[in-house]
Amino acid sequence: MQIVCSDKEAEIFRHISAAAQSLQMPAYLIGGFVRDKIIGRPTKDADIVCLGDGIELAHAVANRFSPKPTVAFFKNFGTAQIKLDEFEIEFVGARKESYRSDSRKPEVEPGTLEDDQNRRDFTINALAISLNEADYGVLVDPFNGVVDIDKKTIQTPLEPDRTFSDDPLRMMRAIRFASQLGFAIAPETFESIKRSAHRIKIISQERITDELNKIMLSPVPSVGWDLLDKSGLLKFIFPQMCDLHGAEYIDGKGHKDNFYHTLQVLDNIVPHTNDLWLRWAALLHDIGKPATKRFEEGHGWTFHGHEVVGGRMVPKIFARLKLPLNDKMKFVQKLVELHLRPISLTKENITDSAIRRLLFDAGEDIEALMLLCSADITSKNKQKVKRYLQNFELVKQRLLEVEESDRIRNWQPPVTGEMIMETFGLSPSRNVGLIKDAIREAILDGIIPNTFEAAHEFMLQKGATLNLVPVKH
Ligand code: CTP
Repeated sequence: MQIVCSDKEAEIFRHISAAAQSLQMPAYLIGGFVRDKIIGRPTKDADIVCLGDGIELAHAVANRFSPKPTVAFFKNFGTAQIKLDEFEIEFVGARKESYRSDSRKPEVEPGTLEDDQNRRDFTINALAISLNEADYGVLVDPFNGVVDIDKKTIQTPLEPDRTFSDDPLRMMRAIRFASQLGFAIAPETFESIKRSAHRIKIISQERITDELNKIMLSPVPSVGWDLLDKSGLLKFIFPQMCDLHGAEYIDGKGHKDNFYHTLQVLDNIVPHTNDLWLRWAALLHDIGKPATKRFEEGHGWTFHGHEVVGGRMVPKIFARLKLPLNDKMKFVQKLVELHLRPISLTKENITDSAIRRLLFDAGEDIEALMLLCSADITSKNKQKVKRYLQNFELVKQRLLEVEESDRIRNWQPPVTGEMIMETFGLSPSRNVGLIKDAIREAILDGIIPNTFEAAHEFMLQKGATLNLVPVKH
């Protein structure tokens, strides 16, 4: 098998080959690197499996480079890593795992290349390429992984129940690879995931969420989320997503299935952003709908306030999924809360005041919000979509105009709390807040322009209504 390597990679592999030869320790490239090279995807790290001590081989390889790279090794696991520029290489001795009947804990012991390939997750990840002088570059493919790459199929090398029982995270990995690579999961492998889904509970949330993030960043993330749902994994890892399912009918009035609507919004936003958090905002934008769903006589289904309820759910969901509880979470929460605002503007008269308030509330995130909002237009009624998009363009135009004249987006109060206190000789108190808020509201409502002079004058007037007198300086 010919794979295309950069000159740098080829040089590194020659060195590994020579080091392995000197130690009389056969070595092979294995796993994701081989898979991605055959598919033609970019690669940035490589796994080497050797028939011997991986740490010893890593040291012998490092010795061949100048300057000598650091060898990071983990004696307990028998693994070692070296980094050459941006390229990371991991060394490990080939292993075989055996399960004693009285224990579920695997006993890891040295094995052959074949043993090592047997214990890998998928046929496409069990491919090895020899780095040994006698057969340098020869592909070792016991499970027809190349055929599976060709057929775009994900299946386990051994009986799937066993492969998934060894490491239940592999169920998530199968779905992540399907979403990343656009491959299909073989029916018997998928049936096994359905049977074993409950075992995902023993896997740490961090490892699960790593896979979710990779699904999120994949070309068509709905593929991954739909498979998570159909496999039964979703109800264990993110039950609130499952609650979005279902389209109920009463008196002939129905509503769309919010699960599939959500996935469509997510896919819609993908071509416009690689930002993981904007994609999470798309996934979570309607998460408050199940909790707010009502049927109103003569009117139909409503989800009043779902953006507020959804916004409140975001921190809890982030905590449960062990996503970061920092400004990324705040960003997602803000977008969920505001996701109806631009589209509601298109229904009423678009006043300057409404535009200013939107700019004020969205601030720096106005573009992200507008992207989310246009991705949210998923109606099948072409006329409706056309009308929405036209109005939407109008809102965008108005946002630009109002921002240019009023500079609300990064709004800083032209008169600060300190200035108010100094002017009236006040210490921090309710009146200071009242005046500050009044100035902001007056600017947003267009009663005064967004300038220091106007705000100062307004402050004096507002102070007078509160019986405050400026102190002399
Ligand atoms: N592997 C496995 N079971 C796992 C994780 C990994 O069998 N639960 C094996 C696979 O052979 C895999 C290799 O270890 O190809 C390397 O794992 P990893 O680096 O996690 O994944 P890659 O396949 O390299 O893919 P990616 O880098 O996209 O995660």
